[in-house]
Amino acid sequence: MIHWLKKWLVGYHRETEKTGTDRERIHTLQKGPLPRHVAIIMDGNGRWAKSRGMPRVAGHRAGMKTVRHITRAADDLGIEALTLYSFSTENWKRPKEEVNYLMGLPGEFLRTDLDELVARNIRVRMLGEEDQLPSHTRDAIMKFKEATRDNTGMILSFALNYGSRAEMIRAMHGIIDDVISGKLEKEAVDEEYFGRALYTADLPEPDLMIRTSGEVRISNFMLWQLAYSELWFTDVLWPDFTREMFFEAIDDFQRRSRRYGAV
Ligand code: FPP
Repeated sequence: MIHWLKKWLVGYHRETEKTGTDRERIHTLQKGPLPRHVAIIMDGNGRWAKSRGMPRVAGHRAGMKTVRHITRAADDLGIEALTLYSFSTENWKRPKEEVNYLMGLPGEFLRTDLDELVARNIRVRMLGEEDQLPSHTRDAIMKFKEATRDNTGMILSFALNYGSRAEMIRAMHGIIDDVISGKLEKEAVDEEYFGRALYTADLPEPDLMIRTSGEVRISNFMLWQLAYSELWFTDVLWPDFTREMFFEAIDDFQRRSRRYGAV
């Protein structure tokens, strides 16, 4: 009975954004190679708000809606993992009011979107240093993780208080401790071992990285994991980024020839 209800809910939510053309678009894209993991630097919320004479936080509020649309789009396509850069270790330098607003977003997303994520069988995770987050943010993350722990569909990761260099230093410290204590031979530390010491240990490496807003840089995001990713940039600001634009990025990905250094 519960299984039936869940299936019905997934069906219901799946209908919410699909039109006939959209269905065909998805069907065509599914015939090509899909990226297993898509990582996104969601940029341009502040500029979006400024251009409308609104406070920066209004841009983040609008950006949340895009998070919902793109999560649906990725899930409808059958992407295995979607990672969203939501708050960097550098973002603490922003005005207090903005930081407080951003820290409230996981709680808000929990209230507004948890049911749909569960119905879609999506597992929610977090990448980053949790200890430094306010307790209400940690609480929302914990609730997300618990409520979606047994889900077997797409893995939706929020990179929160995330910085790639910090992530690598943290991994290195763990490895050094194990070598010093004799638990680990130095020679056993290879690329695979190091990869497993990162927050992304059980995720495939991103095949595609998208950045919105016209900035063409990586900004300390998954420096190790993006080694062979295809990069896709758009001038569109994150709140204006649509499901169809996401499909365009996937379409472009399917035209790339990935050689991993070979000819
Ligand atoms: C970058 O735009 C965006 C962010 C720092 C935050 C993005 C977060 C969300 C869209 C919501 C995340 C949702 C959850 C549930 C955690 P910016 O402010 O740097 O824009 P600007 O470059 O135009 O100033």
